[in-house]
Amino acid sequence: MSTPSLHKVPSEQVPMALLLEADPSPSVIARYLQEGHCVVACLDDAIIGVYVIKAMTAAAWELMNIAVAPEHQGQGIGALLLRHAIDQARQLGAQRLELGTGTFGHQLTFYQRAGFRVVAVEPDYFPQHYPEPLFENGLQHRDRLRLALVL
Ligand SMILES: CC(C)(COP(=O)(O)OP(=O)(O)OC[C@H]1O[C@@H](n2cnc3c(N)ncnc32)[C@H](O)[C@@H]1OP(=O)(O)O)[C@@H](O)C(=O)NCCC(=O)NCCS
Repeated sequence: MSTPSLHKVPSEQVPMALLLEADPSPSVIARYLQEGHCVVACLDDAIIGVYVIKAMTAAAWELMNIAVAPEHQGQGIGALLLRHAIDQARQLGAQRLELGTGTFGHQLTFYQRAGFRVVAVEPDYFPQHYPEPLFENGLQHRDRLRLALVL
């Protein structure tokens, strides 16, 4: 497989379908997208992956979304995007990159492999912040894990 190229793009050029792979709420996505720093992975002119990072404070940035198109998952593209997001955050002056996730599945392995540590659990975050119940593999997302990487 050829290696995808990574490009920073304006938020309106990021395909919503890809962002929805990682976050099921268009309204939640719309809120962070405008202020987000968006990078896409392109292969043969098609966008097959994305990440969005956003400043929480000057020193702390958050990874708001990371997704790879389902047919391209499991080939190292997510890891490539995550390494790039970490480097970008560092270059933008961040001393810490954080993220929140409702999944305790393979995504957790994915982040921990990159060095992220669990720093907090927010009980009932998802029922309180999303209008509809969210399910993955038949399991309702309730609690949100906060992870952080010191840069
Ligand atoms: C999470 C996601 C971005 C990972 O991207 P990817 O390109 O599939 O991941 P990679 O191929 O780079 O895998 C990197 C590591 O992640 C873990 N991983 C990724 N997919 C996995 C799977 N299906 N099962 C188990 N581990 C997995 C492994 O540790 C893997 O390391 P390895 O290749 O040495 O085993 C991708 O699965 C995705 O887009 N999922 C849907 C959106 C989503 O859940 N985003 C995160 C929201 S919290």
